[in-house]
Amino acid sequence: MKRLMLMNGPNINLLGKREKEIYGEFTLQTIEEKLAKLVEGQGGELDCYQSNHEGELIDYLHKANEKPYDGVIFNPAAYTHTSVALRDAIAAIDIPVIEVHISNVHKRETFRHQSMLAAVCYGQIVGFGMDSYRLAAFAFLKNK
Ligand code: DQA
Repeated sequence: MKRLMLMNGPNINLLGKREKEIYGEFTLQTIEEKLAKLVEGQGGELDCYQSNHEGELIDYLHKANEKPYDGVIFNPAAYTHTSVALRDAIAAIDIPVIEVHISNVHKRETFRHQSMLAAVCYGQIVGFGMDSYRLAAFAFLKNK
């Protein structure tokens, strides 16, 4: 049985209200519910966590490492582009992390083209809306 963790970073709690033309109309709750169903349908388990705080996300990655999970599906949101501390946390833990983005960051402002985290992640999935999370779950359910 696969145990997966879904983590979301800053402002993802505002999905459904926030920049709908970019992120769509779905909410974080919808993502969490649909992904949990998908994972459970494959005989797995999903825990979910969201924080607007860099340090809390780091603490949570450390905790996830102790459980242990088979993988972390992580949308680090704006911290993707800035956080050396989150990169070090991902590099420090044993469990694989897939970096996920709802929007295609490469079509957007140049500061979003760089990820501080991708090089220490198992993989990166970008630009498929809510399906970005589903594709990450499939990658873990099939390979890891
Ligand atoms: C995002 C892309 C980031 O650049 C942005 O800061 C977000 C959301 C995405 O899912 O498309 O908050 O991670």
